[in-house]
Amino acid sequence: MPAILFPDGFIWGAATSAYQIEGAVNEDGRGPSIWDRFSHTPGATRDGHTGDVACDHYHRYPEDVALMGDLGLKAYRFSVAWPRILPNGRGAVNQAGLDFYRRLVDCLLARGITPYATLYHWDLPLALEEAGGWPSRDTAHAFAEYAGIVAAALGDTIRHWITINEPWCVSMLGYQRGEHAPGRRDMPAALAAAHHTLLAHGLGVQAIRAAAPGAEVSIALNFEAAVPLSDHPVDRDAARFRDGYYNRWFLDPVCGHGYPGDMVADYSAAGYLPRGMHFVRPGDLATIATPTDFFALNYYTCVVVAGGSAPWEHRLVTLERPRTAMGWEIYPEGLYKLLLRLYAHYNLPRILISENGVSYLDLVEADGRVRDERRIAFIREHLEACHRAIQAGVPLIGYFYWSLLDNFEWAQGYHQRFGLVHVDYATQQRLPRDSFAWYREVIAANGF
Ligand code: FCB
Repeated sequence: MPAILFPDGFIWGAATSAYQIEGAVNEDGRGPSIWDRFSHTPGATRDGHTGDVACDHYHRYPEDVALMGDLGLKAYRFSVAWPRILPNGRGAVNQAGLDFYRRLVDCLLARGITPYATLYHWDLPLALEEAGGWPSRDTAHAFAEYAGIVAAALGDTIRHWITINEPWCVSMLGYQRGEHAPGRRDMPAALAAAHHTLLAHGLGVQAIRAAAPGAEVSIALNFEAAVPLSDHPVDRDAARFRDGYYNRWFLDPVCGHGYPGDMVADYSAAGYLPRGMHFVRPGDLATIATPTDFFALNYYTCVVVAGGSAPWEHRLVTLERPRTAMGWEIYPEGLYKLLLRLYAHYNLPRILISENGVSYLDLVEADGRVRDERRIAFIREHLEACHRAIQAGVPLIGYFYWSLLDNFEWAQGYHQRFGLVHVDYATQQRLPRDSFAWYREVIAANGF
């Protein structure tokens, strides 16, 4: 009997996303996305890496699903590439794109693995960016059309859906900081983009339910714990701001609390809202707060925040603490606190961890093994945090490790490795790491 036992039916999963693993960017009628253009822009990604080939999963999915079967996965979270379904973002549907996902889902179901489909994991059709991208309200409506098309086509076999993955990353990395596609640097545009991703989620929930009755839908929000450097009021206020910027700006409207007033005031004072909250139209907040069937969250790390001359002038402080290859601090306690906070302050139904994971650059040793003890420790500590939260009453129903495979880590290209399975990009050979065997035992025992 494991010391740490999870509730019966706990959903043990792993996650990936389309552009990060599929490759085959010019096949079977797929249109270009913002990531195709961005990754081919000199200087945008490390060493100019692109997702052109990635893990070649588009062709190798049967082998990858077989690995998932060996792992004993209960559920697999993947994303549907919008530009495979609607090469121009709207209008003509590319049947070959839908067929690919049907083949993938059939393969999963044949092994008893429940598919969780994310509809937007950052690969916006380029035509929609050229029409204004996420700062344009039309993109939210285009998303709802697309969501309805996919749900109508695949809703007979896919029951679990995630609308938008990480609206903070979509809007802030993409439009404020320019670190991700489309590479813009414009905070007022980023705040409009944020609103439209949330609106797309709400409209998407409605479109999916209309097309596929019985569907279970959520958004996937990413959270970062904001820890003040000291108890000094200036540091605490900086942490409040950081939490608002990263977490509450998205969580509060989705949960029906509207946009946080302290943040609207700060953003206005900082000059980020020159036209006020002009992008919010009557009815939007109700649409965004359309109740979901579960609540999916991604959690990786924390930041330590020190105050500056104004809350938005804060600094992130790097302390000497254990970090991953991404440079992210390891902070399982942040996951525990987050789960308790969601439980105490937000009336959430079932909570699912849709991503948690770690990049380490462990080598393949001479005997052909990857002894990724540090990854095992990372997962164990985060699962312990989950278990403590469940003991405290949090309705946590599942955990998806990010990621099944090493893959294209966005601006970091192939320089980061998050997989339970090592991928040799020269040969496309898959090699399960020690963490794969460990996670398989956890799944089989429903604990450890
Ligand atoms: C998340 C993304 C995912 C992956 C991990 C490391 O923010 O959703 O695609 O890049 O980080």
